[in-house]
Amino acid sequence: METRVNLWKPEYQLDIEVIDDQHRGFFDLCMKSDMLCEAAQTRPVQLQDLVHLIYAMRAYAFKHFHAEETLLLKYGYPRIYPHIRQHDVFLGKLQEFTAKLNDLLAASPSTGQEAFLDSAKGINDYLADWWGRHILSMDLDYASFIREHKGAKA
Ligand SMILES: [Fe+2]
Ligand SMILES: [Fe+2]
Repeated sequence: METRVNLWKPEYQLDIEVIDDQHRGFFDLCMKSDMLCEAAQTRPVQLQDLVHLIYAMRAYAFKHFHAEETLLLKYGYPRIYPHIRQHDVFLGKLQEFTAKLNDLLAASPSTGQEAFLDSAKGINDYLADWWGRHILSMDLDYASFIREHKGAKA
């Protein structure tokens, strides 16, 4: 069975250290939510699992988007605003997940296990989708732009 470590591939690297470290943290988060859903038959998803997932997503988003947008501004990346707009979409989705968590907390302890699992699956699908559609597409695009223009700004 593959471990978390060897699922990480060299092509995920943007060669911008601070960004790669943060993306790796996001990748670990994807793996964590995936395992949570996979293991749900033997270890049911708890409210506390969702609290941890959402907290980690919020911490990632606030720190990482700021770091990335600062970099895009510094290098005069021409597609900066569509990029920021996508970050805003993530933040909007995060608001939805946080609101849902708030509802589950308010209804606790009478909320059923299926509701926790449903939420975890929704988060897990979104994280995987974000990994593929944003990080491996839009982030790779700005990284190659920065690589081409690095000499001029160094
Ligand atoms: Fe990113
Ligand atoms: Fe991004």
